[in-house]
This record gives sequence, structure tokens and C-alpha cells, in this order.
Amino acid sequence: MTGGAAESPSGSTRPVEGPTRSTRPVEGPVGLAIRRRRMTRAFAPEPLDPELVTRLLDNARRAPSAGNCQAAGFVLLDTPELVGRYWDTTLPVERREGFRWHQLLDAPVLAIVTTEPGRYPARYGEPDKVATGRDTADRWPVPYWWVDAGAVAQNLLLLAVEEGLGACLFGPFDHEPALKEEFGVESSRRLVATIALGHRLDEGSPEEPGRSAGRPRRPLTEVVIRPTSGPTRSPAD
Ligand SMILES: Cc1cc2nc3c(=O)[nH]c(=O)nc-3n(C[C@H](O)[C@H](O)[C@H](O)COP(=O)(O)O)c2cc1C
Repeated sequence: MTGGAAESPSGSTRPVEGPTRSTRPVEGPVGLAIRRRRMTRAFAPEPLDPELVTRLLDNARRAPSAGNCQAAGFVLLDTPELVGRYWDTTLPVERREGFRWHQLLDAPVLAIVTTEPGRYPARYGEPDKVATGRDTADRWPVPYWWVDAGAVAQNLLLLAVEEGLGACLFGPFDHEPALKEEFGVESSRRLVATIALGHRLDEGSPEEPGRSAGRPRRPLTEVVIRPTSGPTRSPAD
């Protein structure tokens, strides 16, 4: 194992013990699933067993959440008609020719991960939490409703690996209002991310890599910082 150096915010460097490149996967199914997971952008159109989809969503939602709010959910699009309406809303037919990942549209299931921000201040207004003072949304420096939905999304991506399925997470970005309208989603829900699920197209079918695929993994020494003991600010700060 090699050591490295990290730059502290104040500019001083200090040694960081441990690996700078890549470690072995943590042993066991979770570690392996994390290492194996990659976004799939080319799907076979064959449908998924509805019971499997239900199981995936039920297991994925078992994620931590602030105050056990459990505010994350899904809009499940699991028929060709519903999936077709998603794509008609976000990628109209006339724009499809220029789209690089045609076989992403073949995924038989789209699960839109949602969150309900209003549940957090409501929960933190309950007797056991009210003393925290977090009973209004502006008292949450980190909006944990996004964080908690992210944990559910990652659970679903990893469960897909475990089931031998392909999955791709992408953002609805500016299409959120149109999608909410199209699918009659309550105004209290926000659409966080769409996860396409299905069988990966056969090995050997060339899959267009994502635009970001070539970016190298950042060195661990940049990602993990170990604060030096004592204050690092100079007296002039
Ligand atoms: C919040 C979020 C939004 C993303 N949006 C897109 C997207 O719009 N289109 C796309 O092809 N990939 C999208 N991705 C996938 C990333 O490009 C991908 O995760 C990253 O390049 C690392 O590749 P890997 O997940 O295969 O390891 C998104 C990922 C996240 C987490």
C-alpha cells in the first residue's frame, strides 16, 4: 500500500495513510454489487416479472431516513403504454434521431423515485422531535429529503445488480412539471430521478458508453480527508 498527501483547506499538506489507488472489494454481496454496478443504456424489450418489480421496490425503500420519515416513493411505469408516455413527454419522436441511446427506450420498466419534502417539517413538529426546531423547511441546512431518496435510488440500483438486471438512473431535469401533469402526480411529491430497469441487451451488442464514462475515478486521497489535530486556521483568519 502506498501513502499519499492531501491538501487541507488552509493549504497545508499532510500525509494520508492507506491506499491511494484502488482497494479490493469489500467481501460479500453488497461489496461485489457496488463494484459491479454500472449504468446500462441498452435494454432488451422483454418484460419483467411484475412480482420481481414489486419485490425490488419494496426492498429498495428500506433505506434510512431522517426521523424515519420514509418520504421516498416511486411512480411506477411498467407497461409499454406508460413507458411510451414517459418518452413522449421527455423525448418527442422528432428529437429521437439525434439521441445516442435508442435502446434505453426499450427498458420495460421506469421507476421514478420521488420524495415528499413536506413530510420532514411535519414529522419534526411531532412531540418527540419538536425540540429540534426543524418544523419548518427553512430550518434544514441539508435538505435530507433529497439525501434519503438518493439512498433508496442506490438500493434499487444495487438490487438490480443482484438480480442480474440492467439499470440506468437519469434525471428528469426540466421535464418534472410535464411528467407530474402527464401522470397525475400529487403536487406534494417531487421527482428525483428516473431508474430504467430491464434485462441488459445481450453481451456483444455494442453499447454506447455514457458521455461521462471516460472520467477516471478520483484518487482516494482526494476523496477522504483526515483533519489534522487542532485548529488549522491561522490567527489572522
Ligand atoms: C443524479 C444523476 C443523474 C444522471 N443523469 C444521467 C443522464 O441524464 N444521462 C445519462 O446517460 N447518465 C446519467 N447519469 C449516469 C452517470 O453518468 C453515471 O452514473 C456516471 O458516469 C458513472 O458511471 P457508472 O454509474 O456506470 O459507474 C446520472 C447519474 C446520476 C447519479
